[in-house]
Amino acid sequence: MKVSEFKTAGKLITGLGAIKALADEMKRLGINNCAVITDKGVSSSGLLDQILTLISSKPLLIVDDVPPEPEVDVIERKLGLLREKQIDGIIALGGGSAIDSAKVLASTYDYTGPLLELFGENTLTQRNLPLIVIPTTAGTGSEVTNIAILSDPKAQMKKGIVSHCLLPDVAIVAPEMTKTCPPSITAASGIDAFVHALEAYISVNASPITDALAEKALKLIFSSLVHAYNNGENLSAREDMATGSLMAGLAFGNAGVGAVHALAYPLGGRFHLSHGMSNAVMLPHVLKVNAPFCQDKLYCVAKLLKVCERHHSKEEAVKLLLGAIEKLCRDVDIPASLTHFNISPTCVGELAEEASKVTRLLRNNPKQLSIEEIEDIYRLAF
Ligand SMILES: NC(=O)c1ccc[n+]([C@@H]2O[C@H](COP(=O)([O-])OP(=O)(O)OC[C@H]3O[C@@H](n4cnc5c(N)ncnc54)[C@H](O)[C@@H]3O)[C@@H](O)[C@H]2O)c1
Ligand SMILES: [Fe+2]
Repeated sequence: MKVSEFKTAGKLITGLGAIKALADEMKRLGINNCAVITDKGVSSSGLLDQILTLISSKPLLIVDDVPPEPEVDVIERKLGLLREKQIDGIIALGGGSAIDSAKVLASTYDYTGPLLELFGENTLTQRNLPLIVIPTTAGTGSEVTNIAILSDPKAQMKKGIVSHCLLPDVAIVAPEMTKTCPPSITAASGIDAFVHALEAYISVNASPITDALAEKALKLIFSSLVHAYNNGENLSAREDMATGSLMAGLAFGNAGVGAVHALAYPLGGRFHLSHGMSNAVMLPHVLKVNAPFCQDKLYCVAKLLKVCERHHSKEEAVKLLLGAIEKLCRDVDIPASLTHFNISPTCVGELAEEASKVTRLLRNNPKQLSIEEIEDIYRLAF
């Protein structure tokens, strides 16, 4: 067994009603004058008001307009607002967009350089403000990862900042926070969580610990996503999804994700396709190419998800798994082709060039992909 380090948030508080721990955790971390970072969709769903009733002192600042898939200069402007106040801690309430923004804001309060220079690994060495995160989607797993993803509009790319400073002090995963999540977001962020678990499971850096987390996450998400999508009020499905996406976050936060994510990034950066949707559309196509290189692992997944019978060969079982994943995407109305988003196949070359630069993720993939192979995968997605 290789030596490995397991990274997660300082404390995880999970389960229905976990949100009631917020005031105590703020007290423990010495947060009296907080900033709350959220977005319009989350605040208009009533979740912000719910949080405010739990906080003993009024926030010094509420940033309630983080855009989906935020651009780096938007966060730079928010940082200016934050610095005008004597903030002593940050609460993030939202999906990956609000959480990633809060992770960067909490870690750059005293940083003087341009945020653009932080893209990459270990560029941040300290976090200045305590950070509590409350996910409202299930989800990105961002509540337990050392990554923040922002859009770089000049490069037309989604890019990651990777640092231990981005790991929150506390993650409160209360499934009821996801009940107001609209079906399309439930679907896209749910498939994103499924991809996190699957890519972590087949990653070259997978370990027995990340495998156990990924297996449970795959089972929970595969059995509950459609129910959460069809009826957002189904609390048991929401609970499974919240736990599944958290476990998938723990798995990929340590084993990494691979080519599905690498090929999804240019779709987000160039065509503003949401992170979940980009991953969902690329998933079956990347998986077909990866399959021969991680057949044993995919066979395990096929058995785990009960999509094959004892008499099926490994090849047959993997084929059945690929079919079941395509069906899952169809059942939650994820379009099967990039044409649906008015993207033209003429840009395949440029997309492949951009994706091939995401070596941070491509190196985790079970098959090392050439730029020609990446082009071929994009072609399959039309
Ligand atoms: N840091 C990481 O480890 C990591 C991992 C995966 C993705 N990401 C990033 O996360 C972002 C995507 O996050 P996301 O998929 O969670 O979506 P999101 O945060 O962009 O939210 C999407 C939309 O859903 C709405 N919404 C969210 N929760 C809601 C709720 N409970 N009720 C009503 N509306 C709600 C928001 O208002 C927003 O309009 C992308 O930028 C992606 O790159 C980060
Ligand atoms: Fe993702």
